[in-house]
Amino acid sequence: MVRDDVLAALEQRRGEVISGGALAKQLGVSRTAVWKAITSLKADGHVIESVPGEGYRLSPQNDVLSAAGIRVRLHTAEIASSLEVVEQIESTNTVLKRRAAELPNGYALVADSQTGGRGRRGRSFLSPSGTGVYLSILLRPELPLAQVNTLTIGAAVAACRAFEEAAGFRPSIKWVNDVLKDGKKLCGILTEASIEAETGALSYVVVGIGMNVRTPESGFPEELRAIAGSLEDFSAHPVDRNHLTAAFLNHMEECYRLICANDLSALLAQYRSYIDFLGQPIRILENGSAREATALEIDDCGHLIVESNGTRETLFAGEISIRLPEQTI
Ligand code: BTN
Repeated sequence: MVRDDVLAALEQRRGEVISGGALAKQLGVSRTAVWKAITSLKADGHVIESVPGEGYRLSPQNDVLSAAGIRVRLHTAEIASSLEVVEQIESTNTVLKRRAAELPNGYALVADSQTGGRGRRGRSFLSPSGTGVYLSILLRPELPLAQVNTLTIGAAVAACRAFEEAAGFRPSIKWVNDVLKDGKKLCGILTEASIEAETGALSYVVVGIGMNVRTPESGFPEELRAIAGSLEDFSAHPVDRNHLTAAFLNHMEECYRLICANDLSALLAQYRSYIDFLGQPIRILENGSAREATALEIDDCGHLIVESNGTRETLFAGEISIRLPEQTI
């Protein structure tokens, strides 16, 4: 489509003025077709300046999520080899699960907003437009079931690295996959797996992440307001959502490669470098009741080792919630 090609050409030289004639020549279309594409892109909210007598310039401040804006920064082979960006959807995880049989490995679905975003433990995940990035990736790894937790660990590492790259600060991880800055949770990760009933083998996994970029307080449920935050609360500059998305996908591919190559020690070394609560007292919430423990270490499978009532114990992903004592939720 000419419109997508024009956007891709502008993205490649974001901030520079490109003449209509040069765009037309590059894309092998008429100047009128370029003009129509620019008009349509502007109508969709893209900030494109028309400089009389010179051409068009995609503003560095343009923050409309688009496949062209993501692709120009993407250097993956597997993750997001197919990429779809939509304005609104029920839930990227739900839709990928529904369409899993027909979609290729690595398919990534990115949405500007979700009407039925889902969180862990059946909670909803509010996903207002223009304020975050909501995306899911469909994967078919050859992994033993016991190692599915490594995908969620990989997603947490990829999120941290993307936040460093696109927002310019270093977050921390609270096991298993809460990515925090100053105690504020910046994103939510939901990994869902489908298992073949006959063999018990993994059929596919959907890794979903919702990143809060500039979510207003009202965009968080009442009970989460005290502990939820956005990247722009901590970044010294506006965060470009296309850049952030591409950074996450690029880093997710690096982590995914380590997981598929069974190089968990390299993945866990990165994961541990973001964990800063070891040695501290924690509260374990399990089946509605709470108990105190001390976090000791992350073992070589990504499980959390704690000491509780003088006994060492291994906690498995998905089994519990951990809350540092000063946190209220
Ligand atoms: C949590 O912290 O409870 C996990 C939230 C996960 C939200 C993301 S947004 C993209 C994907 N689609 C969903 O419906 N959920 C995940």
